[in-house]
Amino acid sequence: MDNALRKKVDDLVESEVLWDCALAPYTSFQIGGPADGLVTVKSSSELTSLLTLFHQSGTSWFVIGRGTNLLVADEGYAGMVLVLDGDLAAIEKIDSGQKEVALRAGGGCGLGALVNHSARAGFGGLEFLAGIPGSVGGAVMMNAGAFGSEIGDVLQEVTVVTESGTVLVLQREQLQFSYRCWQDAKESGQRWVVSSVLLAGRKVEERQVRARVSELNTLRRQKQPRQPKNCGSFFKNPPGDSAGRLIDSVGLKGTRIGDAEVSEVHANFIINRGQATASDIIGLMKLIQQRVKGECGISLEPEVQMVGSGCR
Ligand code: EPU
Repeated sequence: MDNALRKKVDDLVESEVLWDCALAPYTSFQIGGPADGLVTVKSSSELTSLLTLFHQSGTSWFVIGRGTNLLVADEGYAGMVLVLDGDLAAIEKIDSGQKEVALRAGGGCGLGALVNHSARAGFGGLEFLAGIPGSVGGAVMMNAGAFGSEIGDVLQEVTVVTESGTVLVLQREQLQFSYRCWQDAKESGQRWVVSSVLLAGRKVEERQVRARVSELNTLRRQKQPRQPKNCGSFFKNPPGDSAGRLIDSVGLKGTRIGDAEVSEVHANFIINRGQATASDIIGLMKLIQQRVKGECGISLEPEVQMVGSGCR
C-alpha cells in the first residue's frame, strides 16, 4: 500500500493506525503473519468513509471481530484489517413495554459482554450466546448458534455498511438466515459490515438469565476443549450429521501436524498446542477432509474463515 493511501487512512480515523501489524495476537489461534495495517474504527461515519476509500482505491480489507473464527496465513494479509470499537461496540438498553425488552448493540461488541448486559437488563433469550467467544457482527454474518438456537432468531433489525459505503437498515421480516449463513449478505453481491443490531426478548429476572448461562457453560465445559488456542468448531456440521462425530469415527482424535492437533475432547476442534503455523492447520484440515471423504463419503466444509493467499 503506497504512502499517499496510508496518509489518507491516517487522516480519516481518530485512532492511531498500526501499520505492518502482526495479526497473530488478534486471533484466538495465535497464528498469522502481518497485515498492511490495522485500523480501529469508532463510528459509523468513520466506517463509511474508510469503506468508500477502500472501494475507490481497490484496497482489500476485512473486519477482524474477536478473531475467534479466523485463520490468517503465515505470509499475512495484503490489505487492511478493521477493528470495530467505540460507538460500533456499544450496548444500549431500549425500554419497550411491560413484557419485552430490547437492546441495541454495535457489531464490534463481544458476545460475552452482550449476554452480561442482557442479564442486567432482564432480557431473556440470549443465554445460548454465552461462551461463544465472537463479536456480534461476526455472529450475525455466520448466524452463530449453540444449543438449538441461532442469533438470526432474535434479531429485530440489522444495520450494515456496504463495501461501497452505503448504509442499509434491514428489518426482521426481510432477514433470511440458514445454518451458519446470513443469506441476505451472501446473496447481496457486495461485502457488508454489521454496524449495529437491534435485539428483542422477553422480560425475565436477572437471576434466571444467569442460571441458564451457567447451566449452558457447564454443558460446554464438559464437551469442548479448554485450551484457549482454538477457533471453536472447525467444520460446519453436514446436513443431518455432526462433523465431530465423523472425525472421531475415523480415528483422528489426537492426530498432529506440527503443533496443530485434533482435540482429544471434541474432534471438531483443532488446537494450536504451542507454535502451530497456518500451514500446519491447513495440512491437518486437508488430512481430516480426505479421511472423512474417503471413509464416510462426506465432504466437510470449514466454518472457520481463512484470509491471506497461503490459506487458499
Ligand atoms: N461427537 C463425537 N465425538 C466428538 C465430538 C462429538 O462423537 O469428538 C458427537 C457427540 O456425541 C454428539 C454429536 O457429535 O452426538 C454432536 O456434538 P456436540 O453436541 O458437541 O455438538 P456439535 O454439533 O459438535 C454444535 C456447534 C457448537 C456448539 C454446540 C453446542 C457446529 C459446527 N457446532 O457443536 O458451536 O457450541 O453445538 O450446541 O454447529 C462453534 O460453532 O464454534 C461451536 C463451538
